[in-house]
Amino acid sequence: MKSIEEYQEIIANGIEEFQNENKDFSLYKPVNYILDLGGKRLRPVLTLLATDLFGGIVTDSIKPALGIEVFHNFTLLHDDIMDNAPIRRGQAAVHEKWNVNAAILSGDVMFVQAFTLVTSCKNESLRDVLDLFNITAVEVCEGQQLDMDFESRNDVSIDEYIEMIRLKTSVLVACALKLGAVLAGAPKEDAEKLYDFGLNLGIAFQIKDDILDVFGDAALVGKKVGGDILANKKTYLLLRALEDADESQNTLLKSWLSKESSVEKVAAVTEIFEILSVKQKSDEVMDDYYQRSIEALDAIQIDDSKKKYLHGFAAGLMNRTF
Ligand code: IPE
Ligand code: IPE
Ligand code: MG
Ligand code: MG
Ligand code: MG
Repeated sequence: MKSIEEYQEIIANGIEEFQNENKDFSLYKPVNYILDLGGKRLRPVLTLLATDLFGGIVTDSIKPALGIEVFHNFTLLHDDIMDNAPIRRGQAAVHEKWNVNAAILSGDVMFVQAFTLVTSCKNESLRDVLDLFNITAVEVCEGQQLDMDFESRNDVSIDEYIEMIRLKTSVLVACALKLGAVLAGAPKEDAEKLYDFGLNLGIAFQIKDDILDVFGDAALVGKKVGGDILANKKTYLLLRALEDADESQNTLLKSWLSKESSVEKVAAVTEIFEILSVKQKSDEVMDDYYQRSIEALDAIQIDDSKKKYLHGFAAGLMNRTF
């Protein structure tokens, strides 16, 4: 097995090659820009790790892994329009640096490029790979729509929230892992267990994302702090606060939710979160899903010496500051 740093380097080189193949044409400027901003690149690393885990040829998985990363970056271009988010990875979001039309169309071309990359696999895996990726891409759209629908609803339950983040975020993490396993020709049951590991890890990952949106260090997170509060996102933190608040806190919270975006709104909602220890409670739920992911991982029939890489990687995601 290679180290995480080695996988990251393979992905960085692959992205550079992909960028160099993009024509010197305005359509591709935002594509290369968003990819230059980096990000953690956790999904393609997971694909390579999964291939290696099952004794596959890592170099054969590079293009499909890049496809997952290009797809993820496409979703970010469109997500930042939908969320009215001005900053991404510490820089201007594409719709701010260029305009909304550029973010839509460059996003669209990335969606197609993602399919080209993902399907650059051996013919024997093509059917399974395409089925997996198609289902995942549809689910991500379904999750994004639920996320948008929830903005204007005041009766979202925690179960509905978990289903929404399963769709918008976890299925892609799970898909990245399963893709690596499928490309390596892993036994079906093991590929499914790896998918389950990814689903639970992805849910924990999105809860962490929600926590960082309010309590993270803007310089590290690279997004506008309180963006979810401004967009009336029904995050785990908000739903838990609504559930745990007493009558007067609930009235106060709801009155702030109905107000226009402002710095005061972020400060007031954050203060209520603090009074209700919502961060600690969210950490606990995140940890719960993390533990479930570890159980799924432990059920896979491979050497512990190999599994330790995924263990380490997953633990790192839970402690992340960006
Ligand atoms: C951000 O994903 C969007 C979510 C699904 C939470 P990441 O946190 O993986 O973003 P980058 O790619 O590292 O910037
Ligand atoms: C992102 O969720 C999910 C997708 C892009 C599919 P968020 O909207 O929470 O992601 P960030 O916080 O903007 O990165
Ligand atoms: Mg967003
Ligand atoms: Mg969003
Ligand atoms: Mg977020």
